[in-house]
Amino acid sequence: MNRPTTLAKKLYVKTYGCQMNVYDSARMADVLAPLGYANTDSPEEADMVILNTCHIREKAAEKVFSELGRLKSLKRRKEDGGGRLILAVAGCVAQAEGEEILRRAPYVDIVLGPQTYHRLPEMVAKASRAAGSVLDTEFPAEPKFDHLPESRAEGFSAFLSVQEGCDKFCSFCVVPYTRGAEYSRPAGAVLAEARRLASQGAVEITLLGQNVNGYHGEAPASSHAAASEWGLGRLIRALAEIEGLERIRYTTSHPRDMDGELIAAHGEVPGLMPFLHLPVQAGSDRILEAMNRRHDRDFYLDLVGRLKEARADLALSSDFIVGFPGETDADFAETLDLVRRVGFVQTYSFKYSPRPGTPAAAIEHQVPERVKEARLAELQALLTELTTDFNRRSVGRVMPVLFDRPGRHPGQIIGRSPYMQPIHVEGADTFMGQVVPVRITGVHPNSLAGEVSPGGGARPQGEKAYA
Ligand code: SAH
Ligand code: SF4
Ligand code: F3S
Repeated sequence: MNRPTTLAKKLYVKTYGCQMNVYDSARMADVLAPLGYANTDSPEEADMVILNTCHIREKAAEKVFSELGRLKSLKRRKEDGGGRLILAVAGCVAQAEGEEILRRAPYVDIVLGPQTYHRLPEMVAKASRAAGSVLDTEFPAEPKFDHLPESRAEGFSAFLSVQEGCDKFCSFCVVPYTRGAEYSRPAGAVLAEARRLASQGAVEITLLGQNVNGYHGEAPASSHAAASEWGLGRLIRALAEIEGLERIRYTTSHPRDMDGELIAAHGEVPGLMPFLHLPVQAGSDRILEAMNRRHDRDFYLDLVGRLKEARADLALSSDFIVGFPGETDADFAETLDLVRRVGFVQTYSFKYSPRPGTPAAAIEHQVPERVKEARLAELQALLTELTTDFNRRSVGRVMPVLFDRPGRHPGQIIGRSPYMQPIHVEGADTFMGQVVPVRITGVHPNSLAGEVSPGGGARPQGEKAYA
């Protein structure tokens, strides 16, 4: 292997937003490694800083500008000392507001969108040569995945991006504009990346996509099936065959794209975790329609029923928006009712935030801030109750836990249940990186306590046996 000829340099990446951004940040570091950049946790010692940004709500976008203010002084200090700091803004704010960033923060060297980061080396070269900034927020015809270096697994749980972009155009959401049209990676490329991650020690893989269950990738050349494309259910079955991969998850899904094959996979693939993030956003048909969600509450409830028929111990999580324009008390009551009916075990809830350029931002009947706040508090209280109740009901159960982190005390290790509950166990550090049956013994505010179940230590044949 050729050793990099450049001197070692330090890269600091700060990530905002969703898991796709976490994945992208790791890939940007991969792209820059051949130029001699190694990651650092401290912006002060960095030669290059990348802010990988999120545009989903106003607050998320504003954070970027305040962070840029702080980095401006750091950059000046470095330059006064004869050094250099390359400052790059990537991600969804860069895509949506690239010109605005350069206007408000002209000291930024590089602005790049989520679809162009494979070109980072050229941008860095340009920024190092010339004065002035580089802006590259194109949606290239050729997907970036064909130009990225191989990813590396760090730890036992890895992300794998299989689908990107969104054609759903929910009326509140910026994602179709910042990430572009839906694209699915070919199944062969996904399988190759998954095999590599498994060979590097990944035990769990989370498949990522803005609309991951809308996946429809080109079938592998070796596939004997007549179909020219694979859906997510088919892809998951193939991934489950990979040696060493014990757990598969996927996020985020749209209710409309949950097809029969994927539902069946939940019943038949033991390694597919019985925990599904399936955002519903609201419980009132009127609001769902205004959100352009393309499903109503009955469709969602029926879907949950079909999923639980396939896998009885399946638990669901969801995102919610309160105070969507025109939402009345009666509409909001329907959201609370839907939450109780489904019994979500983990959730994310947000006040509606008008986003420039989205249809909902132009609706006249915006809900006052204090009403949004009251509704959010009421919804969150209910959601916390449900999560706490689920955690309490876990006590006494034996669940397979993937241990992936040391705990706070010597000998303590922390892992995740199938439902993503953090579980800590004492004196069992030989189990790191393994899936082990654990009896849950207690509930703490942010975690569960457990002990390795007698006979534990052997890798379970199928997670289902312990559920
Ligand atoms: N692809 C995901 C959405 C990603 S955005 C999906 O389809 O579910 C994550 C969450 O942010 C959304 O589910 C929604 O609940 C929330 N969100 C998106 N736009 C928002 C807005 N304008 N205001 C408040 N919350 C929003
Ligand atoms: Fe946004 Fe809707 Fe697409 Fe999810 S499905 S990314 S909420 S437009
Ligand atoms: Fe945010 Fe972009 Fe993800 S807007 S939520 S970083 S797709």
